[in-house]
Amino acid sequence: MAAVNGTVENGQPEKKMITPSLPHPLRNLEVKYTKIFINNEWHESKSGKKFPTFNPSKAEKICDVEEGDKPDVDKAVEAARTAFRRGSLWRQMDAASRGRLLNALADLIERDRVVLATLETMDTGKPFLQAFFIDLEGCIKTLRYYAGWADKIQGKTIPVDENFVCFTRHEPVGVCGAITPWNFPLLMLIWKMAPALCCGNTLVVKPAEQTPLTSLYIGSLVKEAGFPPGVVNIVPGYGPTAGAAISTHPEVDKIAFTGSTEVGKLIKEASSKSNLKRVTLELGGKNPCIVCADADLDLAVNCAHQGVFFNQGQCCTAASRVFVEEQVYPEFVKRSVEYAKKRLVGDPFDAKTEQGPQIDQKQFDKILELIESGKKEGAKLECGGLAMGDRGLFIKPTVFSEVTDNMRIAKEEIFGPVQPIMKFKSIEEVIERANNTEYGLTAAVFTKNLDSALILASALQAGTVWINCYNSLFAEAPFGGFKMSGNGRELGEYALSEYTEVKTVTIKMSQKAH
Ligand code: NAI
Ligand code: MG
Repeated sequence: MAAVNGTVENGQPEKKMITPSLPHPLRNLEVKYTKIFINNEWHESKSGKKFPTFNPSKAEKICDVEEGDKPDVDKAVEAARTAFRRGSLWRQMDAASRGRLLNALADLIERDRVVLATLETMDTGKPFLQAFFIDLEGCIKTLRYYAGWADKIQGKTIPVDENFVCFTRHEPVGVCGAITPWNFPLLMLIWKMAPALCCGNTLVVKPAEQTPLTSLYIGSLVKEAGFPPGVVNIVPGYGPTAGAAISTHPEVDKIAFTGSTEVGKLIKEASSKSNLKRVTLELGGKNPCIVCADADLDLAVNCAHQGVFFNQGQCCTAASRVFVEEQVYPEFVKRSVEYAKKRLVGDPFDAKTEQGPQIDQKQFDKILELIESGKKEGAKLECGGLAMGDRGLFIKPTVFSEVTDNMRIAKEEIFGPVQPIMKFKSIEEVIERANNTEYGLTAAVFTKNLDSALILASALQAGTVWINCYNSLFAEAPFGGFKMSGNGRELGEYALSEYTEVKTVTIKMSQKAH
């Protein structure tokens, strides 16, 4: 996942957003919220355990956070269930008031935007300006978008047999679990929270163990905004413990998950073994980025570069299979290497930095191992290919040319700053090769030919196809995957159906008026 309502095509946030002055991160920010948030109150873990969260650019601990596990999840689910009961404050609230609460939360996020962007940078290592202009912008716009939907969710009157009146109600599903990843911690939470609350559900959130801090801060804003107790509950902790306690819980009615395909499968399995809770999954990608010979090459090189290197390459939308038509292949590789060599890697709090560290040692090792496999399998290493510095988890922007489809770097999700570039000869061939993957999240096409653009847009198996742009995501437009990239859609009007049950009410009319 990536930018929402703020494209990253030129590598920096849009100019209009960064004038007149750049925001400054808060140095020495004190972390205030590290406990479990249930019923609008802060709790310690029942086990008494805590776990550390790290700053990946300094490789040092930021603080300890309460470690939630099954007993804490049980308590959170109970609170969410109570808040959802018929007659509760939340259930009695009219839909327009729910919209006002979502807008109030957006206002508070705007007020504390620098604090939240600073926390996100400390915990993830992503460049501060990116956190401020892209992640936070996306959160605010998504909340406001769904705030507008709250009082417009309505059913239909259906013409059936003339002796009956039949209508539908779109009701909230109930208690929703949100299990989120570390690459866009706050944005992925808001993508789930905004539509869930807008439709009248209650929530139990489990943020990724690497990055719990911004989600916990949101707990304090949920309370300040005036949401009734129990509507939003946040349990930090690990996946196999706290995460699994949510996905197996018989009182959780739906789960929205973003993360690995492997865990996505576990969550579906847990659903089928417990209560068949509804599941939406946003998983991995190995996204084709197709550059035709007639493309605007400057645009294509820039977008493909940003498309794969954005957020340290840690995006499910990463342009990690670049297919370039043979006539322009040498020039495309040359310019892509120039871009990669110029990319500024370093302190994410420095305004000039384009790339920070990878999230953790596990990801760092996985990426370096895949780079080694690329070298061994015969791809040509054009630049990078190594770690950087002796502190923090930095990797040099890496470009491979002469990549073939059977190599691991062309097949596996790398989730790091590595650009594999392949060559193609015809549109038919590239369609076949682009679709030859278990994933189907996004695809991009660069061409000036309308026919090629439309043929590719319809032939590519992906939930999103970008033509002459990359990572252009909008709160109003649905996002999700074909095939093993996931089930269901987030964002836009489509997400509302993931958070509502449709009830059919059928009334038999009396044959005579009394
Ligand atoms: P992960 O899928 O383990 O983590 C995502 C979330 O799932 C975290 O909150 C984690 O605590 C939770 N989780 C883990 N095991 C669970 C379980 N058994 N039950 C319920 N929840 C559980 O991803 P991980 O290990 O951090 O990264 C592995 C790979 O996944 C990455 O290299 C990347 O390829 C992919 N990934 C994709 C993301 C995306 O945006 N689609 C985001 C993060 C990772
Ligand atoms: Mg961290």
